[in-house]
Formats: sequence, C-alpha cells, structure tokens
Amino acid sequence: MATIAVMSGSIRRESVNSAVIATITDIITRHHRDLAVVNVPIAQFPHFSEDIESAGIGTDVQALKDTVGHADALVISSPAYNGFPPGVLKNALDWLSRPGGNSPLTGLPVAIASASPGRAGGENVQPRLREVLTNCGARVVECDPVAIGGAFALERSGGCFTDPEVRSRLDRLVAATLAALPSPEPCGSRQPV
Ligand code: FNR
Repeated sequence: MATIAVMSGSIRRESVNSAVIATITDIITRHHRDLAVVNVPIAQFPHFSEDIESAGIGTDVQALKDTVGHADALVISSPAYNGFPPGVLKNALDWLSRPGGNSPLTGLPVAIASASPGRAGGENVQPRLREVLTNCGARVVECDPVAIGGAFALERSGGCFTDPEVRSRLDRLVAATLAALPSPEPCGSRQPV
C-alpha cells in the first residue's frame, strides 16, 4: 500500500491551508482506499540547529523524519508570508533535508498547493517553495497550479472545504501526485534514508 504524507505550512488554528490538507485527506480516504495518508505536524520540529543535530536528534524528530522517509509522496499546502513559505515550514523542510543528498526528501515526489484569503490564493509562494524543495532533492509534481483564493469565504464541513470546484481542483492534484509515484519495486515502497 502506498503512503501519502500531507503537511500544512500553517500552524494557525483556523488555517485555510490546513483545510486544504484536510480536504485532500478526505479525498484520498474516500476515493483511494488502497492508499494510506499520514499527517506531518510541522510545529513539532524544534528550531533547526546543527548543534542539536550533532548531539543526536530526539526520537520525536526522528519519528517525523521516518514518517516522511517511509512515504511514497508528500503533499504540502502553504500560505505565502511576504511571498515566501512561513518560517515554521522552512524549518521543517530543513530538518527533512538532512543528511543532504540522502534525506527523506531525496527523490520524493512533492505536490504543492497554496491558499489565502486574497484572490491570488498565495500563488506567489509556489515558485519559492518549488525552489526550496528542488534544492532539497525532492521531485516537484508537475500539474496545473492549485492556489485557492478567497479561502476565508469558503464553506467548511468537518474541517474540509465543501465547494465542488475546489474539491475538483484538489482531486486533480491528488491524481497528479499518484501519477508521479514510482512504479512498485520488488522490495516494496521507498525505503527510509
Ligand atoms: C500574509 N498573507 C499573505 N497572503 C498572500 O497571498 N501573499 C503574501 O505574501 C502574504 N504575506 C503575509 C505575511 C504575513 C506575515 C502574514 C501573517 C500573512 C496573508 C495570508 O495569506 C493569510 O494570513 C492566510 O490566512 C494564512 O494562511 P492560513 O494560516 O490561513 O493557512
């Protein structure tokens, strides 16, 4: 069974990006029963420091890294903060980028979405996030950009967006993510690094 890791780039309680991630989780759970979904809570990563890393990372951080390391793909929905990913997301990606060249992100297909109350849906963050992920060795999933604008006005139920057009755009993002999964290898899914 393939596993899709999902990550919201916002730690705000009523976050619209967390609603995007909840909706994607709902879509996968309802329509792709052969897949497992795991959430990666970015707030649980401490501020990155090579001092912490060289002293030996805690079991909590290792567990988060292992979650991504065992996943077959990752989907991130992020706000733009002044056009860039929030520091808390960049911090998580820095942890996940280690050790460079052989990290949980190396070769991992990663799909990007964004959401904001503004009309552009935080689309300005996407090229920046793509650049960070590429520098980390991830494979950014190619698809039509999914930037959900006017997101504060969208109805939610159980934490998920109900708008059919939004759900259909997120359906397509999930489909593009699945299309980017590597073909199964004899020994199973991608191994942790
Ligand atoms: C923002 N916001 C924002 N929106 C946008 O579309 N482009 C941007 O560059 C920025 N920059 C920005 C900087 C900072 C410091 C804050 C706090 C906010 C607005 C942002 O999209 C809005 O707060 C979203 O609601 C954040 O997403 P969540 O937390 O709802 O997922």
